[in-house]
Amino acid sequence: MKNKWKILIVDDDLSISRSYQKYLESEGYSVFTANDGREGYIAIEKESPDLVLLDINMPVKTGLELLEDLNKTFNKKDIPLIIMLTAYGDLDAAVKATNLGAYDFLSKPVPLEKLRAAVERALETLTLKERIAHFVEPDSTPFKDTIIGRDSLMIDIYKTIGTLKGNKATVLVTGESGTGKEMVARAIHENTVPEEPFIAINCAAVPENLIESELMGYVKGAFTGAATNREGKLEAVKGGTLVLDEISEMPYEFQTKLLRVIQEKDFYPIGATEKKRFHGRIVALTNKNLKELAENGKFREDLFYRLNVITISVPPLRDHIGDLEMLTLHFIKKANLMMNTSIQSITKEALDFLSTHSWPGNIRELENTILRASIKAKDKILTRDSFVFLIPEKKEQNDPKEKQNVCEFFNTPDKLLPLRDVEKNYIEFVLKQTNWHKGKTAELLGITRPTLDKRIEEYDLRKDD
Ligand SMILES: Nc1ncnc2c1ncn2[C@@H]1O[C@H](COP(=O)(O)OP(=O)(O)OP(=O)(O)O)[C@@H](O)[C@H]1O
Ligand SMILES: [Mg+2]
Repeated sequence: MKNKWKILIVDDDLSISRSYQKYLESEGYSVFTANDGREGYIAIEKESPDLVLLDINMPVKTGLELLEDLNKTFNKKDIPLIIMLTAYGDLDAAVKATNLGAYDFLSKPVPLEKLRAAVERALETLTLKERIAHFVEPDSTPFKDTIIGRDSLMIDIYKTIGTLKGNKATVLVTGESGTGKEMVARAIHENTVPEEPFIAINCAAVPENLIESELMGYVKGAFTGAATNREGKLEAVKGGTLVLDEISEMPYEFQTKLLRVIQEKDFYPIGATEKKRFHGRIVALTNKNLKELAENGKFREDLFYRLNVITISVPPLRDHIGDLEMLTLHFIKKANLMMNTSIQSITKEALDFLSTHSWPGNIRELENTILRASIKAKDKILTRDSFVFLIPEKKEQNDPKEKQNVCEFFNTPDKLLPLRDVEKNYIEFVLKQTNWHKGKTAELLGITRPTLDKRIEEYDLRKDD
């Protein structure tokens, strides 16, 4: 842990800062230096040190002035720990520094042994502070297997589900693999007719010649081997929800019969002369583009239009990446329950890393990733290192489409923009790209969170603009 701590020494006396640097580096810390208050401020913004050894008397900007600046421009929790280096007789300054939040004082010249002890003591407190500032914990409510997500795209889905109560309208749920289509189908059921049966069949898994008997059922003697009457799913589901997963794989011939069920709300079991009524709701799921399949004659067009009355498009995870934290905490709880792990928290750094992944396998991939990391974790905390098996990507930089968008800000030949406007526009652009994920935005822009916060305030940037 120790060699992860970053220490900044701000002192105009180079021989002093060199000797401290050398010594602390030999103790395993990562140490860098600045010559005065102004350089110190820049270094704090750029490097986010954990601890700053700050001289008071310096040219250009004094230690106290730097401390004042930090208090004005940084969020309190982002200000590093400060140990002031005071010369004899600096009592006045020491009082001021305390008021500005300095953690400790050392009188110059500081014996190296004393320096080490002070640094260790300070960083110990920081371990505690770090736990609060840099970790996120799941809440203590018991795990419940429901849809998670607060992104507006998810809210739209909840709203649509809300309109389904009291009717039996057919619903088509589309979305890439692993986005949560089945989850949505369950939510429809739970929010409309939870007391009725919920039946799901996967059209790709039922052999083509059996799909009709599976859904419609048959009467005794309808074919060789039909020794008794058998109820199909359309009947068994009663007033409940019948999910037809992978609807694109439904045999073409049978699609006409399904169309009839949807239109007429009745059906004939195989071999029967009397119709039966269908009382339930059909929810069809697909990760294919049904419209395209219909246009190419691979799916019946009339059935497509019948299914496509109420459509719910479940977004890929990359389009609601702001939900990643909530989902991750949810899956940590799930792992603790199902896999008997005992993960208590995850670092923000790890969450930031997960947010930069493009998640081609969507929420299922995220779930599996969290389960895998939880099982392998030696500690009760998931850190960036828990996810080494996830290969980092640099999609932002490589995506030519995005590059083109970025260029729009500079490609204004008839009106050249002031640098300030370019900066404002660009920060706004990156915020939008990351769905206002500030950690990720700061990382992409190569600035610290406090600097980003400062710019957001300065340019009056708002999420909804
Ligand atoms: N919004 C969500 N909140 C919580 N868990 C989710 C959410 N969406 C998906 N999951 C979880 O992710 C996994 C995959 O979801 P689901 O099976 O619904 O995806 P799918 O779209 O049907 O995928 P496929 O097309 O591959 O069948 C499940 O374990 C589910 O519990
Ligand atoms: Mg599914």
